[in-house]
Parts: sequence; C-alpha cells; structure tokens
Amino acid sequence: MSNTTKEYLWWQKGVVYQIYPRSYQDSNSDGVGDLQGILQRLDYLEWLGMEAIWISPIFPSPMADFGYDIADYTGIHPLFGSMEDFDELLAEVHRRGMKLILDLVPNHTSDQHPWFLESKSSRDNPKRDWYIWHDGNPDGTPPNNWLSVFGGSGWEWDEKTQQYYYHAFLKEQPDLNWRNPEVQQAMMDVMRFWLDKGVDGFRVDVMWHMIKDDQLRDNPKNLDYKPNVDVTYNELLPTYSTDQPEIHNIVQMMRALTDEYDERLIIGEIYLPIHRLMTYYGQNGNGAHLPFNFQLITMPWDPQRIAGAIDEYEGALPPDGWPNWVLGNHDNVRIASRVGIEQARVAAMLLLTLRGTPTLYYGDELGMRDVPIPPDKVKDPQGLNMPDLNVSRDPARTPMQWDDSPNAGFTDAEPWLPLSSNYKRVNVTHQRNSEHSILNYYRRLVQLRQQEPALHVGNYKPVHSDKQMIVYTREYEDRCFLIMLNLSHSPCYYTPKTDGLRGRVILATEPEREGTYLEKTFSLGGDEGIIVLIDK
Ligand code: NOJ
Repeated sequence: MSNTTKEYLWWQKGVVYQIYPRSYQDSNSDGVGDLQGILQRLDYLEWLGMEAIWISPIFPSPMADFGYDIADYTGIHPLFGSMEDFDELLAEVHRRGMKLILDLVPNHTSDQHPWFLESKSSRDNPKRDWYIWHDGNPDGTPPNNWLSVFGGSGWEWDEKTQQYYYHAFLKEQPDLNWRNPEVQQAMMDVMRFWLDKGVDGFRVDVMWHMIKDDQLRDNPKNLDYKPNVDVTYNELLPTYSTDQPEIHNIVQMMRALTDEYDERLIIGEIYLPIHRLMTYYGQNGNGAHLPFNFQLITMPWDPQRIAGAIDEYEGALPPDGWPNWVLGNHDNVRIASRVGIEQARVAAMLLLTLRGTPTLYYGDELGMRDVPIPPDKVKDPQGLNMPDLNVSRDPARTPMQWDDSPNAGFTDAEPWLPLSSNYKRVNVTHQRNSEHSILNYYRRLVQLRQQEPALHVGNYKPVHSDKQMIVYTREYEDRCFLIMLNLSHSPCYYTPKTDGLRGRVILATEPEREGTYLEKTFSLGGDEGIIVLIDK
C-alpha cells in the first residue's frame, strides 16, 4: 500500500464484519454460539481479510429481544461465556491486528435491569426519572399515541405505581430518559468500562430513538400506511418520538468520550433519509464517525435509483464525513434472498468498490439465503407479535454454515434456530476448496480493495447509469478503476464517451472475463460485474 494513504484510519480502510453471536459457532454444545466459538473462527476471519468484527450484544439479558434487552451493561451473559473469555477474545483479535466493536444499547434496558427494578419500585425512588414515566389521560388511556416498533402501544401500564412507562420496542425494553444527566453519566461510565478494556468502538443501537419530544406530543398519521401489509408501527410518522434535535448533544458526548482514547469508532444505527442521516456526523465532525448508511438495504434494486442515491449521499456528506455502506444485517432479509442469488455477486462488488467503509453480515459471503422457519420454531418477538405479516427476523439469523458435518459444524447439539437445508453444498469448507465459489470471490474482492488505495480511499465518480447498469470510477494517484455492474439478467453495453478509454478486466463475477482487454464498447452478460483497470 502506498505510504500516502497512511493518514487514513483503520476503520476507513478496512471491512467490518458483523457476527450475530448466537449463530456463529457453538463451543459448548448448547446449540447457541458463544465467545469461544468466535475465537475458534478467527483464522477464518483473518483469511477473509476482515479488519474489524462487530459482535451483536453478548451481555447478561433475559433474551426477550435476543440480547438487545440488557440487564447488565458491564457483564457477559453465561450463554456466551465469561469475562475471561471476552478478554481472551479481545487479546487474540488484537494479536492478529484486527479490531473488535461492541454493540451498545443505550436507548433502553431490560425490564430486569436493576435500574428499572428500582425505578418502578415507587414514584419517589431516586431512579424514577431514569425512565419515561407518565400519568395516563383522565379516561385511563396512555399519555399519547406513540406506537411500539414491535406492535401495539408504546406505553405499558404499571399497576403498582399507577403510571405508564414508554418502550419503543418490547414492554420488556423500557426506554431510558436521556434528558436525565444521571442516565447520561451512567452510560458514559459503561462506555468507559469497555474502552478501558481496549474495545475499538461501539455500534450504537437505534441512535435516532434516544431522545423524545419533551412535551410528548402525538405523532401524526402516516398517509401512506398500508394496513395488513405494513407493520402497525408505520401507521404513524415517528415525528416526535425519534430524531429530536437534542440527540446531537448526546452523540457529541459519546464522541467526546471516545476521542479521549486512540482511534476508537462510533457507528450509529440510524434509519433516516439522507438529509437527516447527515446531521449525525455532527458539526465539524463532532458526531458519529459512521452513521450507518442503509440505502442498499432499504432501496429497490434499481440501477438508476441506486446510482442516484449514491450521488445524493456523496453530495450530502459533510466535508470530513466518511461514507459507509451496508448490504445486510440481523434485522433485514439477507441480500441473496432480497435480490436473488444471481445478483449476489454483483451486490458484493458494489459493496466492496463504493467509496466508504463496507459492513458485511456473516454468511453473506457464502451467499446464504433466508431460511424458512416453521411457525412453531419462530423465536423473534417481532415475528411472534405480528404472525400474519411475515416479519420475523429469524430467517436471516440462522447458524453459520461451516462444513457438511451434522449441523454444518455449528454445533453438536440442537441448534437454536434451524439450519438451511442447503448446508451440505453451501458451506465454508466446500467453498474454500472451490476456486470460483462466491466465498473466494468475496475474498478476492476484499484483497483487491485492500491492495489498491484507489478502491479503499480513492475518489468516486459516477460515469453512467440506465435501466440495467451502474458504471463508476474509483481513482487514486495514477490508478483508476472503472466498475461496471449489470443489475439486470440480460446483456448490457456501455460505450465510453471519453475517446480511447480502455483497460483490462482484473476482477469479474465470471472468471472467464478476467484478463480480457476492453475498448470501444464494454459489454456484460446478465448479472455480471467487472472491475477494469483503466490504461493511463
Ligand atoms: C435494533 C437492533 O438491531 C434490533 O435487533 C433490536 O431488536 C432493536 N434495535 C431494539 O434494540
């Protein structure tokens, strides 16, 4: 790598890999993945070329929302191991030159967290104001119309103290009152605990939810709501329950704390339109380093819309804001299921050649698809609460497919979620041994991205898009790559407007294309993508 790219930080240059710990590797035969399991798989992650690992919550939790309901922010759930296991994992990740990112869930705790138990014990408990408590209306109805993301009202009545508390998610996940300075201090202490241990950053859960309107005004109706299709939460626009101006003071506080340490990272989980998302970078870069950019997840797979969104995003970034891209995570349909297995390689090329930090969801590198889960095996509360809407997130959370042994090498017990029936064909061992597998293709993309400053830090220029394809360049000093992606199933053709633009294909979705020399008209078969090193 050229010395001139030295001023870029690890999280700007490398790829982040998300592990859903329940599903990665079980080491103690209980059917659930754990920290020792992750340790056993670090060789693989190193081989794949991952810079950083983000692990979804591993803290003590009643698991009402599979760890996103935390009962102790500074402990490790015994299901995942012990603090010694964590320390060992962190040390080993660092020994290999990789980074470890934890999930911080500051918007809400578990209803079993001692803070909440105290808070609900009486109206005059010192922690009463740590959560959002309010009287009902005179007729007994909740204080306002806010809804829970997981269905029903966002308010839960507490019989003992005769007030409602607010929960944006499950009633077992009461929202903290971030207007209270003691809450702020307590969560800064949590962050400091992990930063002192040496973790490299946090992915902050539902950052845009953390502060709510101080007058608790009713949310307006969403006129685009489609009953029986949309989740009930979408009946209203979350105008007053999310994305309030005061959130930026909190993000700034988190950032200031991490800035006391070396090169630590704050990623914000934020589902908002681009112009709102940008505000989370803060002013003069004092906000989140990476407000997650979910456009490739939320947008239709349409080349013109995606090309437009990339341009809009690039154009809206603040001067020192670093871009990032995400194709999948534990809350959404897997990419190979959403766009189809034929397009999965094109999607990978897009993720790994756009400007900005890519986040890769475990298993997507194998082309894992959503797995049908029989109704009696559904675990996800979102799926259980809205059984007719097919919104369970379990299908995208099934165990990692390592090899063709029973349970794909994930566990020798009954796995907590069923495995895909295709695991004998679709697994790491098989794909590592197969030169043209999607796994080896992913790895080559990652390697090329690492080797070429043009691909990890170079500039981005849109070149062309139409109803089939997206074409753009990435350039750094004397190296320029043209990336051409066919998002359709039939051939497409691109004739460069610049005379004499020509070059050699150095990586392609179809290996036969590699090494070929292109000039005049660049053509692609359906579902193909190529990276062309342009002649200078
Ligand atoms: C976002 C997380 O990604 C999701 O899995 C969880 O259910 C909600 N936040 C609530 O914490």
